[in-house]
Amino acid sequence: MKGVILAGGLGTRLDPLTKVTNKHLLPVYNKPMIFYPIQTLVRAGITDIMVVTGGPHSGHFMSILKNGYELGIKHLEYAYQENEGGIADALLLAREFAEGDSVTVILGDNTSDADISESVKNFTEGALIFLKEVSDPERFGIVTFDPDDHSRIIKITEKPPVPDSKWAVTGVYIYDRQVFDFIKEIKPSARGELEITDVNNKYIEKRQLKWNELKGYWRDAGTFDTLLEANNYWAKKNKDEKAK
Ligand code: G1P
Repeated sequence: MKGVILAGGLGTRLDPLTKVTNKHLLPVYNKPMIFYPIQTLVRAGITDIMVVTGGPHSGHFMSILKNGYELGIKHLEYAYQENEGGIADALLLAREFAEGDSVTVILGDNTSDADISESVKNFTEGALIFLKEVSDPERFGIVTFDPDDHSRIIKITEKPPVPDSKWAVTGVYIYDRQVFDFIKEIKPSARGELEITDVNNKYIEKRQLKWNELKGYWRDAGTFDTLLEANNYWAKKNKDEKAK
């Protein structure tokens, strides 16, 4: 199993902070944001990792992550995404790196203390996504369950104005090698991006998508409010752990 962290984009929702550095290097309490997804992968035993980045501050990643050894990474690669082609377009840059292996993909702005080790260990084929119940479903990829069988997802809709459920697709995914072929089959969305939701819908069409609930804290720290929330959560957790 290999790990891919997607850390590109211009981070316009966090402008002007993102004029200074890449969104995924902004502080979340005492660490740059990207340390959290790295921590999630390394804790699950994934130490062969690619960081896909882009934009004007991409060089900053190397000065902080270096070869990744200090963070428990054994092998770290970088890829550069030329344009703002979306999450699936960024993932395509990891095709050679994956070498036919399965990949655990995490969006670089997703901070979580969930332990995904078991899911990684038990993964064999298809796709596995991690869901979380949210109060603001219009902001996320949202699942529609089969009305007769709640364990089965029949479709995922990206940022639906009228959501079918409150179950959001988090930015943590496990894919088998087919993912790269599916990315090549999808077309850009109305916002001109290759959407990861369309890739997940391909797996649904083939009845090869499973899901788990992401247990623990999870926040996509991509807006001012969620960035502040994530900072507060990790500050408290850190202090609580020190007090033990
Ligand atoms: C992306 C995905 C969305 C997912 C979210 C999780 O949205 O497109 O399906 O629910 O990440 O963080 P974005 O934050 O890029 O708008």
